[in-house]
Amino acid sequence: MSHDLPRILDALVDGVAVVDGEGRLVRLNAEACRILETSTEAVAGRPIEQVVGAGGFAKAVRAALATGASCVEHEVRVPRRFQGDLLVDAAVAPLADEAGQPDGAVVGLRDRTLGAALREVERERAGAAALGQIASGIAHEVRNPLGGIRGAAELLEKRAASERDRAAAKLIVREVDRIAALLDDFLVFGRAGEIRLAPVNLHRVLDDVLDVLAVDPLGARGRVERHFDPSIPELLADADRLMQVFLNLGRNALEAMTDRDGTLGISTHLRLDHRIDLGNGERVPSVAIDFEDSGCGIPEAVRDRIATPFFTTKSRGTGLGLALARHFVTQHSGVLQVESRTGQGTRVRVLLPLRRAA
Ligand SMILES: Nc1ncnc2c1ncn2[C@@H]1O[C@H](COP(=O)(O)OP(=O)(O)OP(=O)(O)O)[C@@H](O)[C@H]1O
Ligand SMILES: [Mg+2]
Repeated sequence: MSHDLPRILDALVDGVAVVDGEGRLVRLNAEACRILETSTEAVAGRPIEQVVGAGGFAKAVRAALATGASCVEHEVRVPRRFQGDLLVDAAVAPLADEAGQPDGAVVGLRDRTLGAALREVERERAGAAALGQIASGIAHEVRNPLGGIRGAAELLEKRAASERDRAAAKLIVREVDRIAALLDDFLVFGRAGEIRLAPVNLHRVLDDVLDVLAVDPLGARGRVERHFDPSIPELLADADRLMQVFLNLGRNALEAMTDRDGTLGISTHLRLDHRIDLGNGERVPSVAIDFEDSGCGIPEAVRDRIATPFFTTKSRGTGLGLALARHFVTQHSGVLQVESRTGQGTRVRVLLPLRRAA
């Protein structure tokens, strides 16, 4: 039977990696080869750190070899050269030879990337639904009294005895109008499923966005580089909403640049490997649109909050840009992902399902 071991290991849906007592790789099964983008021949005899990096589950393997105890690490990142990084659960169990002496370890690897991505989509959906409820609540509670306040202020303005009173009443009217405009923006969250799908040429939308940014003083802050994937076909989407999304992302990127030689890279890729569930069981490939800037980056401490409505670090920001962008992307059944390095830059990725016209 023992000569069948490689075939048995290859039949497992989990990855299996065997290391010797010195932490050198001995064998990988087929799934482990896929996860690590390599083969047993290429890595046999090499220390585990050389293959999976010094962090991640290599540490767990070393700990198991040193202590003789099993351990499980959840969702550790496996950096990969060709395809995107993976998240895996790694279960490390020490092995013993016939005499019961420690002799290497076996690592079970389970790819968690899909699960993590699904959880992220679920979180976004739940967040968007909660936001919708809050927004309609605000609509009801704030809109009505606002109308009353405006009317009363206009009356006061007409009856004002002095120029000073008139100016004060005018100020009230102006500020009420400002709140109403802000509320209009915010109310978008309350209207679910309001996008109108039509065939859209994504690159034309992006070019329109670049035209708008070019005539904006902000445009002078950085050089824009376009890398469009010509194989992306027309997709069903709401061009106006997408325009708003991309404009907000472009503005944020340019606003993050302090010197004049910043760059804003806008690239698109067809992602046949990354499929999005449209909610009816239909899974379609996706399109990634990346806005990558060389700006100030987002400090770790605020990264979780940037897409929360009204969160802003800018003196004149409303903090609605990213929240709206995320909302519209979620309405398209897409995902908005932010990666950032403080002081180096930020990449915001919009993943949209490639819905095709029937
Ligand atoms: N590309 C980026 N680089 C650095 N920080 C960013 C970037 N994008 C967003 N942020 C941070 O996230 C915060 C929220 O962004 P958001 O677009 O929601 O609001 P804002 O830009 O502050 O205001 P508004 O978009 O309403 O004018 C920003 O204040 C900024 O701190
Ligand atoms: Mg903004």
